[in-house]
Amino acid sequence: MAQTLGKAEGAVYTRRLDPQESPMPGSANLNIMLKAARKAGRSLVKDFREVENLQVSMKGAGDFVSRADIAAQAILKEELLGARPTYGWLAEEEKEIDGEDPTRRWIVDPLDGTTNFLHGLPHWAISIALEHKGQIISGVVYDAAKDEMFFAEKGEGAWMNDQRIRVSGRSRMIEALFATGLPFAGRGDLPEVLQDLARISPVCAGVRRWGSAALDMAYVAAGRYEGYWERRLNAWDIAAGVIIMREAGGFAEPIDPEGNLIEDGAVICGNSNLFDAFARIIRKG
Ligand code: IPD
Ligand code: CA
Ligand code: CA
Repeated sequence: MAQTLGKAEGAVYTRRLDPQESPMPGSANLNIMLKAARKAGRSLVKDFREVENLQVSMKGAGDFVSRADIAAQAILKEELLGARPTYGWLAEEEKEIDGEDPTRRWIVDPLDGTTNFLHGLPHWAISIALEHKGQIISGVVYDAAKDEMFFAEKGEGAWMNDQRIRVSGRSRMIEALFATGLPFAGRGDLPEVLQDLARISPVCAGVRRWGSAALDMAYVAAGRYEGYWERRLNAWDIAAGVIIMREAGGFAEPIDPEGNLIEDGAVICGNSNLFDAFARIIRKG
């Protein structure tokens, strides 16, 4: 048995229901988010194909990507606020808008992984979260170049296209793969990250730096690697990833155990077996 969650050109996302599972439709809000992500995804994929032709002029390519980013954000705003005009709006490329309904807000990164996009690397995503009374209740991370739609709603599990996803079951540090973010020009946290790497690299199977925080979290949720940590992020980088991680059976916490994950922008997440050992290493820093 399958339920249609929504249609886009050339794609229909369904949730395959286990015969034991009670039919639970994706909420109206989730369908709005999926539709918005696909629409913005089509616009970004079109622009992504152009980027390679522009590599000769760095300035030209940079401006083009900014325009692609802003165009994607405009599509998302029209779809999300168009459908729910009373919600608040927090998106990377513009000033926050308070909603008439103070309890709900969209948190959006129209293009996470901008540097990859600019360099023609197909590893970037659209990230959309819905917050209600300070809690993230739905999240969508869409890797449009690979057509991988990661999504979750509170209490409904986490999904990648029509497949239910779960964090990996690996429980030995030495077999575990991790990801992080490395500071780039203008960011001053390199010494901190180098200390993290000095502690974790010798005891694990490797550390990756992919360049999209939203996809890093989705990949831990899908069991592709065991954990991810990064500091100095923004709410829009991680909000959708948090619910996808948790619904996939993993942990997503602030690096400072007393902190607030969305406000601090310093996240550590991992599968349930390894989280404690992993967090001990990172939190020592
Ligand atoms: C960036 C990516 C990257 C992370 C940066 C973020 P952007 O987002 O998520 O992986 O290391 O800190 O700012 O700028 O591509 O939206
Ligand atoms: Ca981002
Ligand atoms: Ca961005």
